[in-house]
Amino acid sequence: MRSLEQKLRRKTAIVGIVGLGYVGLPLALAFSRACFKVLGFDIQQKRVDLVNKGQSYIADIDSRSLSAEIDTRGLEATTDQSRLKEVDAICICVPTPLTRTKDPELSYVISESETVSRHLQRGQLVVLESTTYPGTTREVMLPILERSGLRAGRDFYLAFSPERVDPGSKHFTIKNTPKVVGGIDSKSTKLAELLYSRVADVVVPVSSPEVAEMTKVFENVFRNVNIALVNELTLLCEKMGISVWEVIDAASTKPFGYMPFYPGPGIGGHCIPLDPYYLANKAREYDFHTRFIELAADINEQMPYYVVSRIMQALNVRGKSLQKAKVLVLGVAYKKDVEDIRESPSLKLIALLREKGADVLYNDPYVSNVKISGNRLKSVGLTDRQLASADCVVIATDHTCYDYRQIAQQASVVFDARGATRKLRNKNIVRL
Ligand SMILES: NC(=O)c1ccc[n+]([C@@H]2O[C@H](COP(=O)([O-])OP(=O)(O)OC[C@H]3O[C@@H](n4cnc5c(N)ncnc54)[C@H](O)[C@@H]3O)[C@@H](O)[C@H]2O)c1
Repeated sequence: MRSLEQKLRRKTAIVGIVGLGYVGLPLALAFSRACFKVLGFDIQQKRVDLVNKGQSYIADIDSRSLSAEIDTRGLEATTDQSRLKEVDAICICVPTPLTRTKDPELSYVISESETVSRHLQRGQLVVLESTTYPGTTREVMLPILERSGLRAGRDFYLAFSPERVDPGSKHFTIKNTPKVVGGIDSKSTKLAELLYSRVADVVVPVSSPEVAEMTKVFENVFRNVNIALVNELTLLCEKMGISVWEVIDAASTKPFGYMPFYPGPGIGGHCIPLDPYYLANKAREYDFHTRFIELAADINEQMPYYVVSRIMQALNVRGKSLQKAKVLVLGVAYKKDVEDIRESPSLKLIALLREKGADVLYNDPYVSNVKISGNRLKSVGLTDRQLASADCVVIATDHTCYDYRQIAQQASVVFDARGATRKLRNKNIVRL
């Protein structure tokens, strides 16, 4: 332990980052910027080649900063996981998706644990960053790692530390976002705390990996449930003829006890729609039903259907039917100013509109093409002609670069599912 501690303090430790995606690549860069030698691992040769050429494929990372770390500190990537032997700390950032039946799909974590186990060295620190249910680090990873013949807490150290990256955010970075760490014993926690204190201003040690794992899923369940609450309120407000956007803006003036969440066409991304199921699934082992999670999922999953019904209504009052209508959807990324389309509600929305017989086009400055129900769609140019020729323009993702005034002026009907136009007065706008 002492030698790893010294290496971390002196920044002579080599940090291995496994999984160079949205979480892993920024983390690799953060450690490199903090003067550590970083070795990144991925199973995709293409990603490894791009990293080594200094070409970023993650919107939040610019290629220039990546190249700078390669040149100055020797940041490097590889698919050769036997090189895990060379590193002192291993941060695992592999995907944790769901199966088709919405059960946790831990195969990436399991397979990577098996790989690490084959190359595990005495004195190494292993940290899981992937979001998962409480118990994964101790119940799933630890036994696999101990197949190496080394004992956790004695020969190697093991912890969980959730990633809290906010894609697209200019305000919150790895440095200014407190990092929670929980080790399987006090030595593991201490080392993980020391590791992350090199890149994060505040590190929050907790008593176990289970607490750290639960903290992460709780944060995402919190968002999920609050989004569902405001989505439900939106449905009621519409019936009562009240603008939910005005209500949220007014409620947001309360300086304590309230924080705003916004309604939308559904929830997306790799976290909020998926992570709650990890907890709900684990809870069943304890004969416990996480009713808030199920209720929130129920409400949020209905939102794309609700948006379609409101678009139909908006067209009907103008004497048009959705069938054969030309609908231009703005934004297919799951949230504004990112290029990530994972679980994006826009995709569901487009699929539903097409099922109803609409002729759907889309524009997204960040996403050049998407595959929906087996069909590849290409982003169309956002010209005045395109806007004017659509029977309805739907704001599905409120990218900052859109000129909403211009959109509202050109389109015959705008259905705004994000409240992007709430400061505009235009009778052609229908809001969620
Ligand atoms: N994207 C986010 O905003 C976010 C935020 C917080 C937490 N998380 C969590 O972080 C984890 C990673 O998410 P992500 O968005 O970075 O995923 P991602 O798909 O962008 O990246 C994962 C990377 O891991 C690689 N990979 C898979 N198996 C591997 C293996 N055995 N060895 C080496 N590389 C392997 C993949 O090729 C891919 O490049 C997930 O558990 C996710 O829930 C994501």
